[in-house]
Amino acid sequence: MKAVGESMQFPLIYYKNNVIGTINLVEAMKNHGVYNLVFSSSCTIYGDPEHLPITEDHPTGNVTNVYGRTKWNIISLRYFNPVGAHPSGRLGEDPTKAFTNIMPYIGQVALKKKPYLTIFGIDYDTVDGTGVRDYIHVMDLASGHVSALTHLQKNHLRYRTYNLGTGEGVSVLQLVKAFERITEAEIPYQGLPRREGDIVSMYANAKLAKKELGWEAKFTLDDILLEMAD
Ligand code: UD1
Repeated sequence: MKAVGESMQFPLIYYKNNVIGTINLVEAMKNHGVYNLVFSSSCTIYGDPEHLPITEDHPTGNVTNVYGRTKWNIISLRYFNPVGAHPSGRLGEDPTKAFTNIMPYIGQVALKKKPYLTIFGIDYDTVDGTGVRDYIHVMDLASGHVSALTHLQKNHLRYRTYNLGTGEGVSVLQLVKAFERITEAEIPYQGLPRREGDIVSMYANAKLAKKELGWEAKFTLDDILLEMAD
């Protein structure tokens, strides 16, 4: 479960699914002698950044599982904001359940399924007052997992973390303008107050993943939007 706002409303469900679920998985792995794990982490663990762009050694919340750190060969991948779709279209930005992420929302406004986009916060200290994120194609995330597993097979790392991002910070308004330019759809929007739990600016320094995993994001924002236009 991964929606910041929802987690503020239903914290116990988040603890149950994400924490207890992981413990169950790790127990099952131990019982079956599986010792390689790629963990789907999130840039949100950095909290309000002390510096930008964020490197993997930026302070995070306390990691409590010493057993995991010493016994397991783990890579933790810190996703920035995943967007886009698998080329088949079977996984992508057309959610079947309620959602809160910006990209599917913009998609639905473009298709006139929603009247307008609501922008959460227009008075942030950013280039145009809206929140800044690092939007990374899901297929780049997928290739990051393959690189991580390959690396784990060759090295005992104990526990190592990598940022998976493009390094490019894009504001909500810049995203809307780029979407309009590339898809030729119109995206009306309305400014709303800031969303509880949101961070102002987030974008990655992903140089460690390039150096050690040989991975880097291949898709630019324009590539992603061109695919969506198709
Ligand atoms: C968060 C996590 C990210 C995680 C993602 C999964 C942070 C910094 N990032 O992304 O690591 O992968 O959840 O869901 O906590 N916005 C609007 N209107 C909307 C929706 C969003 O203006 O209708 C704005 C948000 O305020 C934000 C940006 O668009 O500035 C992106 O929001 P969203 O797509 O919901 O993802 P995050 O909350 O950034």
